[in-house]
Amino acid sequence: MPYKLIVNGRPATVDAPADMPLLWVIRDVLNLRGTKYGCGIGFCGACTVHIGGRAVRSCQTPVSSADNAKITTIEGLSTDGSHPVQVAWAEFDVPQCGYCQAGQMMSAVALLAKTPKPTDQDIDAAMNGNICRCGTYIRIRQAIHKAATLAASQNGRAAQMVSGGSASGQE
Ligand code: FES
Ligand code: FES
Repeated sequence: MPYKLIVNGRPATVDAPADMPLLWVIRDVLNLRGTKYGCGIGFCGACTVHIGGRAVRSCQTPVSSADNAKITTIEGLSTDGSHPVQVAWAEFDVPQCGYCQAGQMMSAVALLAKTPKPTDQDIDAAMNGNICRCGTYIRIRQAIHKAATLAASQNGRAAQMVSGGSASGQE
C-alpha cells in the first residue's frame, strides 16, 4: 500500500509492504544510499535516521509506522557540508573506513538538538548504541564538542540578526 513520507523536506509516496524496514525504503526505493546497513537487528546504529527529529534505527522501523512522518537522512543535514556536525567531523578527520559515520552523525545531531552543550558523559550515553569498528570514538567525542561550539556561535549570530544586530540595513 502507498505510504506518504516527507524525506529531507520533500514529499515522497512509496508503494511498499507494510513491514518493509524504512532502511530499505530509503536506500532501495528512494535511492538515498548514505544510510547504511550494518547488523539489521538494531545493535550497531549504522542505519540511524531521524523521524520527527528523534534518532531511530531504520532497520527496525517498518515503513507503515513512518506514514506521514518527517524523516531526515544524512543527505538532509545540508547540501554543502555546512551543518556544524559535518564541519566538526571534517575538522577532526573523524571517518576512517566511514561505514558507520552517517549513523554516528545522525545520533550526534539528535543529541545536540536535545542537549546543546553535552558533557563527555552525555556524549557517551547518547552514542553508546553506535558501533565503530575503526574505533573513532575519541574523535567523535571531540567533534561533538566542536559542533556544539559551532552551533552555539551560529545561533548567537542568528539571534543578533533577529535582535537588530545587523547594521547592513539589507532586510
Ligand atoms: S543496521 Fe540497524 S542497527 Fe545495525
Ligand atoms: S569509521 Fe570504520 S566503522 Fe566507523
